[in-house]
Parts: sequence; structure tokens; C-alpha cells
Amino acid sequence: LMRTGPAQQSTVCPYACQRRTTTANKNKRFTDALEVLVEYHELTEIEGPRVAYSRAASVLKSLPWTIESMGGTEALPCVGEKTRTLIQEILQYGRSFEVEKILADERYQTLKLFTSVFGVGPKTADKWYRRGLRSFSQILADPDVQLNRMQQNGFLHYTDLSRGLSAAEARAVEAVVGETVRTVAPNARVVLTGGFRRGKEFGHDVDFIVTTAEPGRENSLLPLIMGRLEEQGLLLFQAHHPSTLALKKIPCRRFEAMDYYSKCFLILKLEGSRVQGGGQAVPAGRGWRAVRVDLVAPPIERFAFTQLGWTGSKQFERDLRRFARVERNMLLDNHALFDKAKFLAAVTEKDIFAHLGLEYMEPWQRNA
Ligand code: CTP
Ligand code: MN
Ligand code: MN
Ligand code: MN
Repeated sequence: LMRTGPAQQSTVCPYACQRRTTTANKNKRFTDALEVLVEYHELTEIEGPRVAYSRAASVLKSLPWTIESMGGTEALPCVGEKTRTLIQEILQYGRSFEVEKILADERYQTLKLFTSVFGVGPKTADKWYRRGLRSFSQILADPDVQLNRMQQNGFLHYTDLSRGLSAAEARAVEAVVGETVRTVAPNARVVLTGGFRRGKEFGHDVDFIVTTAEPGRENSLLPLIMGRLEEQGLLLFQAHHPSTLALKKIPCRRFEAMDYYSKCFLILKLEGSRVQGGGQAVPAGRGWRAVRVDLVAPPIERFAFTQLGWTGSKQFERDLRRFARVERNMLLDNHALFDKAKFLAAVTEKDIFAHLGLEYMEPWQRNA
């Protein structure tokens, strides 16, 4: 039974940035299993298998058909022996034994629980696990555990933050942030980025880029915005990272997890009355919920690079950079695109795709 004809397979490109991947994933049963393996290797910080499984998951997400037999799967890029065994198991038994084993593993369960707290990464989670801690109440009761301000707020708002946000809530957040920016900086522009720009129905935060045409002014925007949110009683938590941008130091060969722009990670109060449809996610009797919001303020001439870098998905970004490096011998990050020492300017994302010789991908086609 050959559902996957060779004609279709030949169209599957090896890089995520060459494939149009919408949120309509036709192979969720396989990619959910692969994502458990990705998460397991991420939590235990094993790089090789994490990369291989995330590339495989990304290929399966992009397929316009559902895999119903093994026929043709050997021709898919980035789908290796281990992934094919997993697909085979799921087709035959409806589940994967390796995945079941991980899901039942105490260390995996505990690290996943701990890293679900805002401010807790794999290193901290592992430190707590090795101390014998297994639950939130044990962490909070341990006199030797020092929580930083971010983690304290992560625990304080855990119930709200772990629930994630709907697209309707993201629109309500966009209205609040938009009004705030218009009040403190009428000439500034604020645009939605991240998962909600890609058309996701659900997300863990709402991401925005704020820019102004006045050079240098971008560095004062975020403090102004945070000040106004505070005045309105909407700022529950803020971590501000002022710009460390030294454009002369770019390009930098090292892969940067964090960019140099002025940015802030916030927890805001979202009032239920602002959410269209009543805001069902708002706890009854309280009238508001906590939401995670990220703001980044690049200089205007770097807007396109920031927008491309912050729209995601993470896998799409990784493959864009890898494509630039391996296929074009160029260097791409959130700040710039370099061809050897030559900076390639861009006003829009389309310019960057064109510099790379890639077909333009709409944001909703970047859900790799
Ligand atoms: N990003 C970045 N630098 C940061 C934070 C985020 O470049 N300091 C990028 C990430 O690589 C990602 C995008 O911004 O591509 C959005 O990040 P994030 O909010 O974590 O993920 P989403 O795709 O929006 O998904 P969700 O928030 O729903 O988990
Ligand atoms: Mn996001
Ligand atoms: Mn995320
Ligand atoms: Mn974010």
C-alpha cells in the first residue's frame, strides 16, 4: 500500500526553511512521540539525538499526507533508522515502547515538572533532582534552596502561566500593549511576533517587537512602557536586559542563544473583561489572569532581522541559520546577514529570503 508516492517524496526538502509547514500537522501521532524524545534529550542535555529527532519531527510536520505505511519513509530527508523504527512501532502497536519508558521515568517526569516553572532551566531542575527533591512543595520547604526573583514569580503565578494562552487572549494582550505604547511613545511601532504571528491557536507567551524611527531612542522605549504598565497596576513582574549591542562586533562565529537587543521578560495582569468571549481562562471571582509577555526593541535598521529571528519556530530558525552557513557560506542571526565580511542590508523579511536565495515563507508557513 504505497500512500506516499515517489513524486511526493521528491518534493520534501532537507531544510525546514525550504518547506511550508502550517499548524495543520497531519502526522501528530508520530511527532508527539518524537517530541517526547526531543524533550528527554533536551532535559538531559544530550545534543546529538535531540538535533536528529527534532529534524525528523519537523520533516513529518511538513508532509501534506499522513503516513500510513512504511513505504516511502526511507526516502524522507532527516528520517533515520531510529525514527523509522518508532514510526513502525506506532503504526503496528499504536505506541512506542521507548517513548512509554521515558514517560514513566521518574527523572524525566520530575525535570519536566520543574522546568515548567518560569525561570527554571534544565540545570537548576537537575540540581534540585540530584538533591532528592521531587515536588514543588519539597522545593518550597527546603531551607537550602535559594529561588531567584524570576523563579519566585514563576511559583507565585504557576497556575496561570502553566495554562498557556489562547489566540483571543493574545489579541487582548496586543490591545493592552498597543495602548500603552501609544501613550508613552506615540511615534513608536509595536508588532506581534513569535508563535501567535505564525497563527498558532495556543502559546506560552505573547511576543512583540517595538521600534522607533528615531535612532538611539529604542533603548529608552522598554523602560517607558514598563513604567506605564506599572502605573496601570498591570505589571506583575519584569526582567529588563538593556541593549549590549555593539554592531562592530558582529559577525560573531559563536552561535548566540540570546541577542544583544534591549528586551524584557514580563508577567502582566490581563483583565477578563478585555478578552473577547468573556475570557473563560480567567479564574472566577478574581477577574484577571497572569500572562507572560516578551518585548524586544531593536534599532529600526535591524527590524527585519529581529522579526525573522523572533517569529520562529525554533526549528525553522535553526535551519535558516544552518542553510545560510552550509549552503551559502553566509552568517545569519537575529542582528544581521553577512556574506563573508559584507553586511547584507534588509528592510523586510522578504529581502533576507532573497539574499539567501530562498523562496519567501509566510509566517504561518514557518511552524516547523
Ligand atoms: N527568541 C530569540 N531570543 C530570545 C527569545 C526568543 O531569538 N531571547 C526567538 C526564539 O528562537 C523563537 C521566537 O523568538 O524563534 C519566539 O520564542 P518563544 O516565545 O519562546 O516561542 P514561540 O514560538 O513564540 O512559542 P510559545 O511562546 O508558544 O512557546
Ligand atoms: Mn512565544
Ligand atoms: Mn516557548
Ligand atoms: Mn517568548
